[in-house]
Amino acid sequence: MRILLTGSSGWLGRFLAPRLRAAGHRVTGLDVAPGADTDIVGSVADRATVDRAFADHGIEAVIHGGALHKPDIVLYPAQAFVDVNVTGTLNLLEAAVAAGNDRFVFTSTTSLMISASIRAGKGGGAREAAWLTEEMAPLLPRNIYGVTKLSAEHLCRLHHLEHGLNIVVLRTGRFFPEDDDMAHEIAENGPNTKANEFLNRRLTVEDAADAHVAALDRAPTLGFETFIVAAPTPFLRSDCAALIADAPSVVARYFPEAEALYAARGWTFPAHIDRVYAAEKAERLLGFRCRTDFAAILAALADGAPLPFAHDPAYLSPGANRATPMSRGLL
Ligand SMILES: NC(=O)c1ccc[n+]([C@@H]2O[C@H](COP(=O)([O-])OP(=O)(O)OC[C@H]3O[C@@H](n4cnc5c(N)ncnc54)[C@H](O)[C@@H]3O)[C@@H](O)[C@H]2O)c1
Repeated sequence: MRILLTGSSGWLGRFLAPRLRAAGHRVTGLDVAPGADTDIVGSVADRATVDRAFADHGIEAVIHGGALHKPDIVLYPAQAFVDVNVTGTLNLLEAAVAAGNDRFVFTSTTSLMISASIRAGKGGGAREAAWLTEEMAPLLPRNIYGVTKLSAEHLCRLHHLEHGLNIVVLRTGRFFPEDDDMAHEIAENGPNTKANEFLNRRLTVEDAADAHVAALDRAPTLGFETFIVAAPTPFLRSDCAALIADAPSVVARYFPEAEALYAARGWTFPAHIDRVYAAEKAERLLGFRCRTDFAAILAALADGAPLPFAHDPAYLSPGANRATPMSRGLL
């Protein structure tokens, strides 16, 4: 198919574009920043750019990964988030309907499920970890990123309802390679933290890309569906109280070998785990399961093999690289 891939210069885009081509698709990349997989440098917030992309490239399906996201909150005002994440998504949906497309994949985020009180975790008085599925309600996103992504999800739902466009929304967990932007809140900010997150909230960028390919394939049979995408957690819902009280003891129950493997590297487990993303629905309905899980990380530690996930403290989103972000000339 002829696919319009937004965010093609970004971290996800650079892994997803080659995978789509390998699956036989023709990919047109659209991004505000140039990149190896980007054919059109322009903004999704600009309707004329979007319409031209459809007309010039005979677009048959959209994968919409381009966005302002969490680290951009300190760089851009709220209006830019509305322009890019909400208006940009609307532009693409309307163009897809006008072109008679039969499928659309939207990259969303698990972040929109995290209210201020879930985020406060044990310190905020939580007595158990939040067990998060697609059924989670009410959704009370705590920042402009989550609010605009949730609005975009609703625009997707509406376009399915009103126009029958088949849409898969992927609420992905973390797959960024850089350090956490909340580094000041955590003791360690390197591969140890990323490895820990595979227990409850992370996936590899390769798995994130593969989930999008699966979503594109399945969209016409799904109609409108939303999926959490994260490495399969080893935990059960019944672990939630123990996870917030004493997470290392729960990990030790599932992975008796983990403590020694971690100690050999000077790594530690988080004292408390405040949330678990459960990705069972994607397995059931989308037929997708992340390949890399926490067990794979322990296996790499045991074998002395390279860690099976990317860690690159120097990674900067192409968006963040733009010279004068607050001028927002391109947005
Ligand atoms: N990285 C993560 O851990 C993570 C987690 C959950 C969801 N997501 C979502 O995954 C998607 C891809 O994120 P990523 O990690 O590759 O981030 P990234 O910042 O590396 O890539 C995003 C890309 O979108 C582009 N972009 C920004 N504004 C645009 C506009 N107006 N028009 C067109 N393109 C624009 C940027 O230039 C950038 O290349 C985003 O929708 C993000 O919200 C990412």
